[in-house]
Amino acid sequence: MTILVTGGTGYIGSHTVVELQNAGYDVVVMDNLCNSSMKVLDRIEAITGKKVPFYEADIRNREDLEKIFSNEKIDAVIHFAGLKAVGESVQKPWEYYENNISGTLTLLDEMRKHNVKNIIFSSSATVYGNPAIIPITEECPKGVCTNPYGWTKHMLEQILTDIQKADNEWNVVLLRYFNPIGAHKSGTMGENPNGIPNNLMPYITQVAVGKLDHLNVFGDDYDTPDGTGVRDYIHVVDLAKGHVKALKKLEPGTGLSLYNLGTGVGYSVLDIVKNFEEANGVKIPYVIAPRRAGDIATCYSDASKAEKELGWKAENGIREMCEDSWRWQKNNPNGYED
Ligand code: NAD
Ligand code: WQD
Repeated sequence: MTILVTGGTGYIGSHTVVELQNAGYDVVVMDNLCNSSMKVLDRIEAITGKKVPFYEADIRNREDLEKIFSNEKIDAVIHFAGLKAVGESVQKPWEYYENNISGTLTLLDEMRKHNVKNIIFSSSATVYGNPAIIPITEECPKGVCTNPYGWTKHMLEQILTDIQKADNEWNVVLLRYFNPIGAHKSGTMGENPNGIPNNLMPYITQVAVGKLDHLNVFGDDYDTPDGTGVRDYIHVVDLAKGHVKALKKLEPGTGLSLYNLGTGVGYSVLDIVKNFEEANGVKIPYVIAPRRAGDIATCYSDASKAEKELGWKAENGIREMCEDSWRWQKNNPNGYED
């Protein structure tokens, strides 16, 4: 079985390619490299011992897609390609809607032209908005998103749902990720943000490596045990393995499936700082700063549906997530440029 991985040189995509190859799948990767480096392909090959066929291609470009679907015999697509910076999406909404929505519509059209009607889509817990239920089950109603990035996920879920409803040859899996952190155990692959990181763990690792001075903790007056925001952090390799398990929901006649991919456990910002310091023996200086616009107090999953139906459960705890994030950053202070 051959899987096309869009956005396959990105953070989650690259870890998923490793797990797919380890599980015996043939993989083809496409990416326009707007937020990733081709150097990751050598790292993947060093881990799995397998070559990674790669196309530098854009999901918005029909000719690019035509070439891939004509050259390769693709059975299913795992669709990671997209822009994902929440703050940037508020500044550049057109770019986010155009890239994520228009790009996905073009991809879906080329897929159906080539009779490839199996897709796993990277969605996000952001679609729950300020969640009505904690822990968040898949039945929790979708909420009001606070930024254009979130709306692209919200809308693409609806688009995929409607397309599957109209044509039951489609099999669609929507995976709602919680907060992916961590890196491959080898320390050779991990998250590689451009500029100053927006997300908590890459910010912490850059403080630890001395690139940033201290962490700003965004608010300590939330209604949580220590006042700081609580999230469901999930190891990126566990998340990657969740995609391999989800492939079974692309069997003919399965239709539409939807899963949370999280651990079911919530940690506060200060829990993460403490666990990172204990796991790695490094100090993370921090100051309490004002709340960040658009943040919510608490967000963690009920992860039982994926366990019951996919036989998938996160295996790594917070200590491994902190150790692995640090090993990657320490060995590669400048990401894939090292
Ligand atoms: P990433 O930026 O590392 O990977 C996305 C990849 O898509 C990048 O390599 C980028 O170059 C590529 N890309 C972007 N637009 C493209 C286009 N038009 N054509 C071809 N390639 C394009 O991000 P990630 O963290 O690996 O996220 C992967 C997916 O998971 C995204 O869809 C993201 O929205 C979603 N997601 C991420 C998180 C998270 O916290 N990291 C959480 C929930 C959902
Ligand atoms: C986690 C916690 C912050 C940075 C985002 C997207 C979401 C999904 C995952 C894609 C919060 C606090 C952070 C810092 C801090 N992505 N924090 N200082 O906001 O839960 O989720 O990434 O789909 O859509 O919104 O993740 O890592 O930014 O923040 O105190 O410098 O850490 O306030 O409580 P978030 P995050």
